[in-house]
Amino acid sequence: MPDFDEVVRSRRTIRGFVRDRPVPGAVLREALELAQRSPSNCNVQPWRVHVASGAARDRVVRGMLERFDQGDLGNPEDPIDAFPGEYRRLQVACAVELYGSLGVARDDGPGRLSALRKNYELFDAPHVAFVSMGRHFGLGVALDVGVWLQSFVLALWSRGVGCCPQASLRYYPEVVRRELGLPEDQRLLCGISIGYEDAEAPANGCRQRREALETNVRFHE
Ligand SMILES: Cc1cc2nc3c(=O)[nH]c(=O)nc-3n(C[C@H](O)[C@H](O)[C@H](O)COP(=O)(O)O)c2cc1C
Repeated sequence: MPDFDEVVRSRRTIRGFVRDRPVPGAVLREALELAQRSPSNCNVQPWRVHVASGAARDRVVRGMLERFDQGDLGNPEDPIDAFPGEYRRLQVACAVELYGSLGVARDDGPGRLSALRKNYELFDAPHVAFVSMGRHFGLGVALDVGVWLQSFVLALWSRGVGCCPQASLRYYPEVVRRELGLPEDQRLLCGISIGYEDAEAPANGCRQRREALETNVRFHE
């Protein structure tokens, strides 16, 4: 196993997977077992996860793409955050880096639409996990689920498995409910495409930078 710092430093979001190389069930399970150790307020362990592979994965993808290709850009159950002011600069820099690696220009509408569509193709990942929490919960519990998410992402990466957490997979909740039986009392928070990196995929050339620590942290004496 690689060193923890090395796992954190080397991890990147993967947006191009080897479609016909599924992750062994035992490896997925190991990463899920490790993420299960995540801390949560009062130890209520509020994350709920539906993992779809094979035919189940294909049904969800078909359902989402059917809607996307009809021009229906989806309808998330919770509002999607906007990024005004100082956050806008970072959002734009992120898009410039990603679309740059794809060779898609800023004014290339069809190119950007096809890049967006790849989210619903799961970037060819053989697995997808949908992550939810009880509908009555709020920000505090969402924080616990975020902690779980990072544990899971790092547990996958340390085993050589890539993933892409996706807010975009919140946009067709009806499809997830219908195909995977996600209960109505669960709020869908995100999906995660999971698989082995396709090193040839242009999107995987994307390298996102981070701000200097002082942007995010203030020390008080
Ligand atoms: C909760 C969450 C939602 C995300 N949603 C998407 C998404 O819908 N599509 C996508 O391509 N990337 C998505 N990402 C990946 C981010 O764009 C990525 O983490 C960020 O640009 C930093 O890049 P890095 O992960 O390669 O360091 C998401 C990441 C997180 C944590």
